[in-house]
Amino acid sequence: MFQVNTIERFILQHQPKHAQGDFTQLLYDIALAAKLISHQTNRAGLTDILGGAGEVNVQGEDQQKLDVYADEALVRLCDHTGRLCVMASEEREDVIQIPEQFEKGSYVLVYDPLDGSSNIDVNVSIGTVFGIYRYKDWETRGRLEDVLQPPRDLVAAGYILFGASTMLVYSTGDGVHGFTLDTEVGEFLLSHPNMRLPEPPAYFSVNHGNLGKWSPAVKAYVAWLQGQADGDVPRLSSRYIGSLVADFHRNLLRGGIFAYPAEIGKPEGKIRLLYEAGPLAFLIHHAGGYASNGHGPILDIEPTGLHQRVPFYIGNRRLVERIETLLIEEK
Ligand code: AHG
Ligand code: MN
Ligand code: MN
Repeated sequence: MFQVNTIERFILQHQPKHAQGDFTQLLYDIALAAKLISHQTNRAGLTDILGGAGEVNVQGEDQQKLDVYADEALVRLCDHTGRLCVMASEEREDVIQIPEQFEKGSYVLVYDPLDGSSNIDVNVSIGTVFGIYRYKDWETRGRLEDVLQPPRDLVAAGYILFGASTMLVYSTGDGVHGFTLDTEVGEFLLSHPNMRLPEPPAYFSVNHGNLGKWSPAVKAYVAWLQGQADGDVPRLSSRYIGSLVADFHRNLLRGGIFAYPAEIGKPEGKIRLLYEAGPLAFLIHHAGGYASNGHGPILDIEPTGLHQRVPFYIGNRRLVERIETLLIEEK
């Protein structure tokens, strides 16, 4: 029998009992933002959207116009609904307050509006990452403390991949589910229910241009991933896009590991905890995998700053645990 499962129907059918209404609506809002950003992304080569917006973001990186558009789309769609009490974005130095004239809600949204922005101008896949927390204190909700929560406390997380097609993948802790945007119909349709990280894994993803900046243990780890060690080495191919969302998505479907290690003189690495590593760690956990900073679970890290960075290893558990062993031995 013909049946189309739209994201709206799926979210409604799978909403957690404790979180109906506002939470469901918030996921719809994000799905709508995803459609807007997708539309704009697909036009990137056609309009004057290409190139930097002439500003430098809080990370000291050149801001692209699509970063600004994606950030604005999420804020504008979510700030007036009464569902959120505060937001945080990669593109903004401080937390984003809900304007005085609107009601505050129960949820906290953290996001990287456009991930892999160096790939925009060269027509390579990019993405958006998001995480949702609950407020910490009802009376004073909307403070930095509501945002700085460990990824284990996320109530939902997901990403949107703007690739050959646009996909939205999310979890509320009950499986990881993927939807593909049918641009003709304008709906995300369920295409990848219950995504599980396959075994054996197929790929490893790391920027080899950083080889000279790695400690001996990290070098030994990457050599192990390449199959250059004795004993039980994995048999993996190398793939690296330079858009975390796209690298993560491929490895989620095929099995593998993405690593952005600590560097000598830069022990925190590059990936941001709150809106990159945390939400993806939540997803990989619910797909049967593991994410670590090389010493322990990303899920357990208590954030101390909005734009804090962490060394990041994410994928099949056996591949991730190997770096933890090597780093203990290095001490
Ligand atoms: P963003 O575009 O949001 O700043 O993130 C870029 C990140 C991530 O997407 C990617 O995995 C990583 O930077 C790539 O870094 P390198 O170019 O140093 O490999
Ligand atoms: Mn990013
Ligand atoms: Mn970004």
